[in-house]
Amino acid sequence: MSSDNRMNIVKTKNLTKQWGNIVAVDHVNFEIKEGEIFGFLGPNGAGKTTTIKMLCTLLNPTDGTATIAEEFDILQDPAEVRRCVGYVPQDITVDGRLTARENLEFQASLYGIPRGKEREEKIEQMLKLVELGQRADGLVEMFSGGMRRRLEIARGLLVEPILLLLDEPSVGLDPVSRKSIWGHVNKLKKKYRDKFAILMSTHYMEEADRLCDRIAIIDRGVIVALDTPKNLKRKIGGQVVEIDVEKGRRAAKRFEKEDKSFIINVKELSDQTVAIEVNDGESAAPKIFKIASENKIDIKSMRIREPSLEDVFIHYTGKTLRDEDTDLISFVRRQFSKRMRSL
Ligand SMILES: Nc1ncnc2c1ncn2[C@@H]1O[C@H](COP(=O)(O)OP(=O)(O)OP(=O)(O)O)[C@@H](O)[C@H]1O
Ligand SMILES: [Mg+2]
Repeated sequence: MSSDNRMNIVKTKNLTKQWGNIVAVDHVNFEIKEGEIFGFLGPNGAGKTTTIKMLCTLLNPTDGTATIAEEFDILQDPAEVRRCVGYVPQDITVDGRLTARENLEFQASLYGIPRGKEREEKIEQMLKLVELGQRADGLVEMFSGGMRRRLEIARGLLVEPILLLLDEPSVGLDPVSRKSIWGHVNKLKKKYRDKFAILMSTHYMEEADRLCDRIAIIDRGVIVALDTPKNLKRKIGGQVVEIDVEKGRRAAKRFEKEDKSFIINVKELSDQTVAIEVNDGESAAPKIFKIASENKIDIKSMRIREPSLEDVFIHYTGKTLRDEDTDLISFVRRQFSKRMRSL
């Protein structure tokens, strides 16, 4: 099917949300086609949750709007939008004091799905889909994080949505549970091909790369790049030379001084690792060695690799997705050493 005649499950028009002088989402325009898993990739505070909440009418935009399934406007038809959009929030909200089945029954009554055989079958089917059939009558407070997340997804699907919004579906999960959630998201895509799309937000690169058909990289409320993972990587072109050194910061500072025609971008990935974006790794490697030795930078090892989504992110935003975590860790470290000194 050509991409042109697929339905737009989402189409935003200058979608904006402002809180005082913070512009959380800034005149954002994008489309999600039927059959797509569309990813929002961005750091903390980028505006992912705010956009998702506007699309399911939990928040009103301060400017612009969005249309769901080429039919319902989030401002004009909020009731219709709620009926066809499933929302799985970032924070787990299933009730621990109820069983899995009771949680879904509660949701069904909230959405006015009439009691009866059909509803029971629907619930059973959803529990099976997320592999919780065996635990249907178990109390949710005994469930692991991954199981709760799966139950949330089942709950989001109960209304048979056209659009499923998954806000950070695998945050806080161990790698095994994370992979299991990925499996389920993929299963959904295969099961409901037509008139269905998933929008998921994440700050896991690997997750975005593996699952999403297209990705919008969002930073400070603005979409800075939007394409398939493959094209995003291809667009930044070139290769990445990663070097392990004694002092990452010093090395990064030195390489930043080089001409942009040779070194496109430099980023300190950790205290001892620096990523250098270049046009061609093979020809850049000896030059990098030469500069290093002239500046007494001891390169312990060097790798040349193709760009990853992390590099794409660095390319467009100048920071890594982990920068904020790193800032937090160094803040805690600084506070801790201050305390130690004052004792
Ligand atoms: N209720 C609110 N009042 C004021 N500011 C808000 C409110 N909700 C969100 N914001 C601000 O809007 C911006 C975007 O927040 P949002 O929750 O959409 O980010 P996010 O991309 O989902 O981040 P995270 O990865 O941490 O979940 C942030 O600066 C945040 O502080
Ligand atoms: Mg969020």
